[in-house]
Amino acid sequence: MLERLNTASARTERAVEHYDWDELVQDDRVHRLIYTDPAIFAAEMTHIFGAVWVYLGHESQIANKDDFITVRLGLRPIILLRDSQGRIRALFNRCTHRGTTLCRRDKGSARFFQCPYHGWSFLNTGKLRSVPWPDGYACDFKDAKFNVAQVPRVESYRGFIFATLNADAPSLPEYLGPITKPIDEWLDRQPGGKIAVCEANRLRYKGNWKLAYDNSGDGYHVVFSHRSLLEMENRQADVANKGMSYYRGSPDNAPMYMAYMGHGHHFKDKRPNIEKRAGGLWAVEGPHPGMEHYAEALRRRFGAEAEEILDLASSEPVNINVFPNFSLLGNHIQVFEPLAVDETNVTWYGTAVVDEDGALGGAVDTINALRMRTQEQFPNFGEVDDLANFEEIQRGLACQEDEWVYMHRGLGIPGRVKTDEAGVITAPATDEAFMREYIKEWKRLMKATPKLVVQREP
Ligand code: FES
Ligand SMILES: [Fe+2]
Repeated sequence: MLERLNTASARTERAVEHYDWDELVQDDRVHRLIYTDPAIFAAEMTHIFGAVWVYLGHESQIANKDDFITVRLGLRPIILLRDSQGRIRALFNRCTHRGTTLCRRDKGSARFFQCPYHGWSFLNTGKLRSVPWPDGYACDFKDAKFNVAQVPRVESYRGFIFATLNADAPSLPEYLGPITKPIDEWLDRQPGGKIAVCEANRLRYKGNWKLAYDNSGDGYHVVFSHRSLLEMENRQADVANKGMSYYRGSPDNAPMYMAYMGHGHHFKDKRPNIEKRAGGLWAVEGPHPGMEHYAEALRRRFGAEAEEILDLASSEPVNINVFPNFSLLGNHIQVFEPLAVDETNVTWYGTAVVDEDGALGGAVDTINALRMRTQEQFPNFGEVDDLANFEEIQRGLACQEDEWVYMHRGLGIPGRVKTDEAGVITAPATDEAFMREYIKEWKRLMKATPKLVVQREP
């Protein structure tokens, strides 16, 4: 049963109906209000986080029937689950009685959810199961309106689960489009083309969510903002060119590039900087405690094959950014969750190798132990630099009289930004072309009238 939403967003629509989006988002600059205005933020929850495919979680987080995790679709609390029949659903985490959240845990396993307030209980299909002392009610509880509302469209791409409330959204593969190529390459590097999501680094910053998305492919800031990380990785006398050292010198002449792939998605490919040989990726991994011991044990055990195994423990040098809230960075899944116009969660999920058919000869635990170390590096020593920038941008943007934010690096230089037959736009690594392109898509979505619906079990 589908329900068209109507009055729900009418008020937020009215609040921004006189905004001139073409004035706020121009070719070379955007207005500060898109980061600071609560009315725009409220409209984004409909036009962006309601209307496009939003990443919710990975199938490995709800591997078995009845497993659930709690997440968000914009501001909407969601229970993402695999029901008792095995179907993946995204239920609104909201009791149909008086509206409280039904589930307050991060994850677990449950065939039904009992509301903590007055004890109504719901099956994990969303259907109302029972109401305490029903003789006090004159209504028919078989009416579908008492079943939990859920997101009507939930689909996976190779294990990554996305959802949208928009009945008119394109199919998920169509929405992802050419960005599936780097996603496939990232997955196919893993044995069996699979990963399992493990625990997370949870960070929060006082800034707008788009500041993180603007930065997700920004190759311009690296050597300046992450100087301490680069120095730490390269300070030992016997190591050189570790981590993101390829950004030193002249990054626009290095063999890396950014690509804008439509629907707001973009890709930073730094892989051409890495020597194409087994062990080439491991060779640039920054030093961390215990790594030599692990590497030597693997080399003793596996001989020359150890190099490929070590590459699996290393961070893949890509930023694959799927608008609006999902990135694959190194071995991480990074998820952005807007909380308010000036507050955002950034969660870095680690990923583990799964070796179902034993192709790794028993090395899988060693790889995952090393991989966990390599995954600690960036969120702890790099992401903090980025979050500090986002918070300071938000502070700077409080200067109301200084209105514009520029993203014109690369614009107007003949031959610098190229578009291929498929519409993929490429530019040098420090270019802001991806920002200009995604924000055009953002503007298109803010002007559009999406048809949002929820579903309930009949
Ligand atoms: S609010 Fe859930 S049972 Fe009352
Ligand atoms: Fe950064």
